[in-house]
Amino acid sequence: MIKAIYPGSFDPVTYGHLDVIKRSSKLVDELIVGVLNNNAKTPLFSAEERVRMLKEVTKDLPNVKIIPFEGLLVDFARKTGAKMVIRGLRAITDFEYELQMAQTNHKMEPEVETVFLTTSLEYSYLSSTTVKEVAAFGGDISQFVPPIVMENIEKKRK
Ligand code: PNS
Repeated sequence: MIKAIYPGSFDPVTYGHLDVIKRSSKLVDELIVGVLNNNAKTPLFSAEERVRMLKEVTKDLPNVKIIPFEGLLVDFARKTGAKMVIRGLRAITDFEYELQMAQTNHKMEPEVETVFLTTSLEYSYLSSTTVKEVAAFGGDISQFVPPIVMENIEKKRK
């Protein structure tokens, strides 16, 4: 049984994340979407809100679970029994950070391997940060995020 974690901040989940979730859920038996609850960062959405939106947009994927985590990813992997971490690679600019993270994690827990999926071309430019910026200035984000996220961003703006 292959159990994998797709970790991230998901502040908020975008169609790019959803694309990686859908594609990776077909490669493994169980996919845990690990939502980082990091007190050091001030996210737009609380961990509970991010989890709720992720649950809504993945409700038709039976082998996908949404679980918040704090602390080290490798500790979360040990706790859940996942031996694989999945990350999406958009462009060369992602590579340095991702390589550093994968190698650090592998050093700390050699049992856990990081597997990269290249993001689909239509989402290779997309990030939660740019979505939040466009939304903050009243731009249309309907091509970037699912309707539930749009509604929640709209609520935050009011
Ligand atoms: O979506 P993001 O913000 O790029 O995701 C980054 C994430 C959550 C995968 C990364 O920050 C993480 O794993 N944080 C947990 C702390 C940790 O294990 N750090 C050591 C890795 S170098």
